[in-house]
Amino acid sequence: MFRARTVVRGVMNWNFEEIQETVCKEVAGVLADQELEALRVKYLGRKGLIQEIYASLPTLSNDQKPLVGKKANELRNEITQLIDDRKIILKEKQKKSSHKSIDVTIPGVSSTIGHTHILTQTINEICLAFENLGFVVADGPEIETEFNNFTALNIPIDHPSRDAFDTFYLEEPDPNNKGRYLLLRSHTSPGQIRIMKDMTPPLAVIIPGKVYRPDAVDASHSFMFHQIEGLLVDKDVKFSDLKGLLTAFCKRLFGEKIKMRFRPHFFPFTEPSAEVDISCYICDGKGCSVCGRKGWLEIMGCGMVHPKVFEACGYPKGKYTGLAFGLGVERITMLKYGINDIRLFFENDQRFLNQF
Ligand code: PHE
Repeated sequence: MFRARTVVRGVMNWNFEEIQETVCKEVAGVLADQELEALRVKYLGRKGLIQEIYASLPTLSNDQKPLVGKKANELRNEITQLIDDRKIILKEKQKKSSHKSIDVTIPGVSSTIGHTHILTQTINEICLAFENLGFVVADGPEIETEFNNFTALNIPIDHPSRDAFDTFYLEEPDPNNKGRYLLLRSHTSPGQIRIMKDMTPPLAVIIPGKVYRPDAVDASHSFMFHQIEGLLVDKDVKFSDLKGLLTAFCKRLFGEKIKMRFRPHFFPFTEPSAEVDISCYICDGKGCSVCGRKGWLEIMGCGMVHPKVFEACGYPKGKYTGLAFGLGVERITMLKYGINDIRLFFENDQRFLNQF
């Protein structure tokens, strides 16, 4: 390989330029670390060319010795430098190629595709049923004022539901009502107030959302759950409209067979008020474990909007009448699918959620 070694006038001589050129070419052609290491051994190693040159020094004449020695030192430094530089270039190349080389044949990590939570499915289904009857879906904030959550709904200041045991009060004061605090809405009914303060009848809205109550968590209680509020205001809305509307809705959700029962009840913001029962769709009203042997399932509260509520929203006295209702999404979903523990909705157990 090496033709760099020539014998001149009986002494060994080295063609340093040619060696340097050869090394230069060889190093430039190196593509892998191992090849570079092989070159380093070949030139700079213990049995390498540089050592061979040093070993040949004693055979040289006295005036040649320092010259050749100096050249050998220079050559050693140059080769060291060449190899070091190439090492850096190789490293850069490796870095770049590792970015580029993607093995498209490796099986990918599949991600599971999620789906709509069962509670959201129920909310969508109920909202759609009312949208088909001409209602518009509206939204309200979860942080409310005492005025919207209670006062405007004709709930007196000493009503037990206003107690801190039954409502989550925030430390944030209500900026528009001195001495009063903001709270987490305990029902979706403040949505009625917001709509009526904003709009003039005729109006028909449906307001789904989260509500909060400081209840201890058990199979039928959660500190957070979902309600859907309905409100229809116009001139001459009657209780028979309320009955007809809710009957049409319940039959759509639970089947044509069910019977309806409007049981007199009390809500401060409706008058008259009722609780709505449907005949148990499991046992057809005969009595079973789902309906607690009663034959009826309680599914929502409703009534005609109280005149005091209209007054609080600034509507002229006696001009409008309206109907309102509120239902619990978890309860309806539990009844519909035979789910016996409310906590299942919120524990995020895929084995439960994937069933729906
Ligand atoms: N807000 C009532 C509740 O949370 C339900 C309701 C709404 C009753 C509208 C009547 C009219 O229990």
